[in-house]
Amino acid sequence: MTITLSRRQILSAGTLAGAALLCPDIALAGSATADWTLGIADVEGDIAPRALRRVAGRAPTGLVGTLYRNGPAKFRRGGTSSGHWFDGDGLMRAFRFADDGTAHLAARFADTPKRRQEAKLGRMAVPGFGTKSGAGAIVSGPDDTNAANTSVILSGGELLGLWEAGSPLRMDPVTLETKGMKTYRTDLAQLPFLAHPRVEPDGRIWNLSLSGKTALVWRIGANGALEAAQTIALPRASYMHDFTATARHLVIVLQPWIQDKFSLPFVDSLSWRPEQGTQVLVVDKDDLTRRRLFELPAFSFFHLADAWEESDGTIRFDGCIEATPKFGIEGAPGLVRGEHVRTPMPLLAMIALHANGHATLTPTSVAAEFPRTNARLAGLPRRHTVHVGLYRPDRPLAQGVGVWDWGKGRDDAYDFGARHLVEEFVFVPRAGASAEMAGWIIGNTVNLDARATELHVFDAQHVSRGPMCTWRADFALPVGFHGTFVSA
Ligand SMILES: [Fe+2]
Repeated sequence: MTITLSRRQILSAGTLAGAALLCPDIALAGSATADWTLGIADVEGDIAPRALRRVAGRAPTGLVGTLYRNGPAKFRRGGTSSGHWFDGDGLMRAFRFADDGTAHLAARFADTPKRRQEAKLGRMAVPGFGTKSGAGAIVSGPDDTNAANTSVILSGGELLGLWEAGSPLRMDPVTLETKGMKTYRTDLAQLPFLAHPRVEPDGRIWNLSLSGKTALVWRIGANGALEAAQTIALPRASYMHDFTATARHLVIVLQPWIQDKFSLPFVDSLSWRPEQGTQVLVVDKDDLTRRRLFELPAFSFFHLADAWEESDGTIRFDGCIEATPKFGIEGAPGLVRGEHVRTPMPLLAMIALHANGHATLTPTSVAAEFPRTNARLAGLPRRHTVHVGLYRPDRPLAQGVGVWDWGKGRDDAYDFGARHLVEEFVFVPRAGASAEMAGWIIGNTVNLDARATELHVFDAQHVSRGPMCTWRADFALPVGFHGTFVSA
């Protein structure tokens, strides 16, 4: 069934991302001076391009290009603070790997209306996922609250800083200068655009706008031009940070974190209703009216990996599932206050949707977040998932990175130790290689002893051996969210 959805409906629904229900019984495992708060510190300005210092190993031959990474980096102004980790101003980082083995870093804030307004006011005032509106905030549409702080893709030659409840932000891929909000079609201006679009191996992008029980499905060509935008009905209004896709189907996971009203901060709009279970809606890419619905036990999640289909019609995908959404409600707001709120560990899990309508959920014992895969196999059968993990009980963020092998049921992991905060790692295939994991995984940590951001490269087939090469900046950037590698 296709239904119509007006821009006014979506704007009035104000699908912002997040919210902080601050419970009085928060269990504090940290303090305002806990060492890990370096990973949630403020950056006061843009970072001009500069060389990184190689501190270990040798740069691998053939890794040439740029790792773009996005994440919040400014949370506090004038004695006020963002109410949630998801609401800080986006800082776009560019880690550039040159063919002479050197690496460079530049970073630039997303120059959003939100950031401009708060700089002028001298305080954090714009409402968000978990931040209340402050005095003087003027919000006339979703992009007035857009932090452009979650992820990044390169599409049609444009670097797009992604949030989830407003437009992509166009940035220059060389200078990182903000060029303005991306409008694919004037009647679609300011519509939400999830920070986790699914990109087919040929470059076609699928994404969703969410508004209650309605989703707009975006289809964008490899050249960056809009091919189609069509609404579909959803069986429930559910919080959704990510979805997934096979080569033929969109796979939309509807957790029982239900939007039953609209309020700001947005997280206050959501209620956890585990008795309703989790649903998975499968939609045919070629005909969005063709759909199947599967039922699973209740779980919460932020991130999924790519899906694929097997010869018997089974659809499989993995994700990092949580027993409840407590991290989004209490854990992530606590980080900004320097408080470690203990929340259920995310576990890497496999979900199978069988042709007979039965669905199964099989968790591993691996605590994991930020699942990434070989992008050349997006929507196709694969065996490996890159993830961060190796959490410690007294730390709110990851300390290790691994590659899980679904065939062997084994994790090839490396523990950086308690003195590192580990960010998402991405897989980069080696040119000319065909094996699924022939290539590197690259990403950052915050080294708490050196008080510096580090850039690491691993052989993706031998992660437990440790980094092949590590470079270090002279300063620490806060922990970011998501990135993408663009080959030179
Ligand atoms: Fe995400």
